[in-house]
Order: sequence, then C-alpha cells, then structure tokens
Amino acid sequence: MSTVDILSLIRQVPDYPKQGILFYDITTALENPAGLRAIMQGFIEHYRDQKIDKVIGTEARGFIFAPTLAYELGAGFVPVRKPKKLPSVTIGVNYALEYGTDRLEIHADAIKPGERVLIVDDLLATGGTAHAVTQLVSQLGGETAGFGFLLELDGLGGREKLAGFDIFSMLTVPA
Ligand code: PRP
Ligand code: MG
Repeated sequence: MSTVDILSLIRQVPDYPKQGILFYDITTALENPAGLRAIMQGFIEHYRDQKIDKVIGTEARGFIFAPTLAYELGAGFVPVRKPKKLPSVTIGVNYALEYGTDRLEIHADAIKPGERVLIVDDLLATGGTAHAVTQLVSQLGGETAGFGFLLELDGLGGREKLAGFDIFSMLTVPA
C-alpha cells in the first residue's frame, strides 16, 4: 500500500477551462517521483492477477498510464486516437460532447477477436469517451475486461454510462 496521498498532489485549478469549473491538474502528481510511483503501483496492483491481452490508452492523457501498465502486465499497448492520426486501416466511433461531437479511431487489426482489453484513462467524467472506446473494442470482437481511471468525478453519470463493466477509479471526488 502506498503511503502517498495522491489527491493532495493533484493541483486544483478553479475556473479552468471556463468559469465555474474546478480542474484537477494531474501534472503536479506526475512530476512528483513518489506520486508517479504511487499512481502506477495503484494500477499495477489492481490488475496484476487479471488476464489482460491489451491495454488501451485514449489520446492524449490515457497515453500517460497505459503503456507502463501494459508493460508491467505483460500485455500489449494499443492507442485510441483522435481522427486521422493512425496511418493504416481504422474503425471509428463518433460520440457526443457538451457541444457537438468528437470522434475516436483505432487500427482495425489492433485487437483480435476474443482478446481481453483494459481501457485506461486519467479521468472518468460523463463516461462519453470511455463508452466510445468500448464500442471500438466490441466492434473488433474484443472483450472489455474493465476500465481504469486515476480520477472519477462523481455525479456526472460516468459510472452509470459504463454500467455492467468493472470500473476501477483510484480516487473519487465530487463533480
Ligand atoms: C478528458 C479526459 C478523458 C475525458 C473524460 O479528455 O482525459 O479522456 O475527457 O471525460 P468524459 O468522461 O466526459 O468523456 P479530453 O477529451 O479533454 O482530451 P485529452 O485527453 O486529449 O486532454
Ligand atoms: Mg482524454
């Protein structure tokens, strides 16, 4: 068990990116050697005994954690990216934002049928991003083994949107 208080290392920035929003800035925890170690050990300890074939990180902040976790679990790392960034054949999914829509893509051969896939990101808020990624996994015949987040904002419906899946959030704070 880590003795590091990860939450206290996360900087809280009021009114970013707009008035009334309290932004949890994880960069201050990442730049702290003990903080980074505690975060990665938290993920690794949680998933150590699970059979995971691939770990997906979602661009951009999911890329911070997913490759190291995949390495430690003996799994492969797969990037899910914003549109037109992946060079080979992709599949994509559009998902709703507060205003408008966004799109995420994955290489069509990155997940093989039957593979168990862990989806990792820094933050669970509305769950729109994570839900889009699990749709990509299932379209490729993979099985979503679970979702791992450093931080969950409680009260935005993310956990409900991902109902039925295993969700591990290292820290939960009110939205
Ligand atoms: C943020 C965050 C999660 C997502 C969570 O990503 O990193 O991926 O929002 O929100 P949700 O649960 O409501 O979907 P963002 O799209 O801001 O981009 P970034 O990771 O590239 O910074
Ligand atoms: Mg993100």
